[in-house]
Amino acid sequence: MIDTHCHLDFENYDDDREEVIRETIEGGVDRMINIGIDESTSIKGLELSEKYENIYASIGYHPHSASEFSKQVQDKLERLAQHPKAVAIGEVGLDYYRNYSPREDQINAFRRQIRLAAEMELPIVVHIREAMEESLKILKEENAGEFGGVLHCFPGSYEDSRRALDMNLMVAFGGTITFNNARAAKVAEKVPLKQIVLETDAPFLTPVPFRGKRNSPLYVHYVYKKLAEIKETDFAELEKKIDKNAVSLFNLS
Ligand code: NI
Repeated sequence: MIDTHCHLDFENYDDDREEVIRETIEGGVDRMINIGIDESTSIKGLELSEKYENIYASIGYHPHSASEFSKQVQDKLERLAQHPKAVAIGEVGLDYYRNYSPREDQINAFRRQIRLAAEMELPIVVHIREAMEESLKILKEENAGEFGGVLHCFPGSYEDSRRALDMNLMVAFGGTITFNNARAAKVAEKVPLKQIVLETDAPFLTPVPFRGKRNSPLYVHYVYKKLAEIKETDFAELEKKIDKNAVSLFNLS
């Protein structure tokens, strides 16, 4: 089982990080990708990846921090992404819900990091909130799927997922598919398995039955279980297929 998107470096785990990671691995989640949202979290992710064989890192600047993005930052990210356990660029994207950074800065950081990913021949991890049209447009213009990528915590429609697939991009579902009457669950029902990877976005978006509590990559179990229910398929069979998708997308060993 693979959690393709978590933030184990966040301070939410400062008191018990080692324990959470140990429990997760012992619980059968044998690989995790720690996702950077700026320079320091990207570095912390790499440090975790050096400490734990089971952890990989994604390097990038979240749209929230896009106003801090510069040529200097880009050069630093490029160096970090050369690390053997750096498996992706991200999370990058557009967030027009919070708008913590001006949209212009978000678009600039997004485009430049897509180009960085292409240069590094790495897949991208994309965060989209209230900005699906604009994001898909930019992804297409930048030919973003060249080395693959994933639209994380997929917030779009089935039609949007088709457009992503046409660009060689996958979609990731997380804890939200376990929520009652979740729109994401209805979308997941229609998206072909070969286009799906799973994630937790821990410490956020905790799945049922732990909703409201701190999330853990261990709980990706509940996301796999829910998807197996949605797809009316055997759990072990689904696990094998989904893990294969993640391994090939991120070139995991
Ligand atoms: Ni995230």
